[in-house]
Amino acid sequence: MSHANPVDLVFGGMEKLGPGSDSDTLQVLGMLPKVPHGLIVDAGCGRGRHTLALANRLRNPVHAVDSYEPFLSSLIEGAEGAGIGPLIQTYCMDMADIADRFQGIDLLWSEGAAYNIGFPYALKTWHSALKPGGFVVVSELSWLQEKVPADVRRFFKTGYSDMRSADENRVVAEDAGYRILATHTLPRATWIEGYYDRLEPRARSLLDHPDQAVRDFASETLEEIRIFGSSEDSYGYVFYVMEKV
Ligand SMILES: C[S@@+](CC[C@H](N)C(=O)[O-])C[C@H]1O[C@@H](n2cnc3c(N)ncnc32)[C@H](O)[C@@H]1O
Repeated sequence: MSHANPVDLVFGGMEKLGPGSDSDTLQVLGMLPKVPHGLIVDAGCGRGRHTLALANRLRNPVHAVDSYEPFLSSLIEGAEGAGIGPLIQTYCMDMADIADRFQGIDLLWSEGAAYNIGFPYALKTWHSALKPGGFVVVSELSWLQEKVPADVRRFFKTGYSDMRSADENRVVAEDAGYRILATHTLPRATWIEGYYDRLEPRARSLLDHPDQAVRDFASETLEEIRIFGSSEDSYGYVFYVMEKV
């Protein structure tokens, strides 16, 4: 018997695979001290909402890396639909191997994806792929306050035990050989609009799916959304805008 892929069922057709918005992407892009061009790589691009926003704004090719082929196919469709097909090149590969595939990167962008290989490891392994003075922009889930509601703390103890504070992530970035130029925290609304507000009814409708793995993924998703509602802004997605030193 073939099993349904829980990710496809919960996220199928969703444009956003994580919190964020084009206006935040472009705001953060504007925090770089100069307009980047040349070799631009987007690590863990997913369906590439931000990949398209970057390529559109910069009119520069963007090399989009993801390990899940269906997301890359959907990105190609989106790029063709937006009339910027020639600007998007896709690579189905592990973002941990970026330095083997690309050298002399001018800008490495990664929204809501670096955690898959660990933020500190991602920064270390990407360092050698960048040009001297090259830029890295990574968004990473980060604690924003010391006071954290108990159920939120409990959820992330298993959900993402590696989560660090924004100050700790600054130290991680400096130790990996970067200068932090700026940071930006995603506003709460970007978690809800087009993301949790679409994800919640999808997950709810899958709670009685015949496949146990789908039911489990749906209920974990609903728990994540509930936790966000009770987070009291104790955590958020922080963009770290960095330059290789
Ligand atoms: C939460 S999604 C974010 C997608 C996209 N950046 C966005 O914000 O819409 C994380 C993405 O990382 C990809 N991913 C996970 N592990 C990966 C790896 N080791 N190498 C490349 N991509 C990976 C997943 O396939 C997924 O598309």
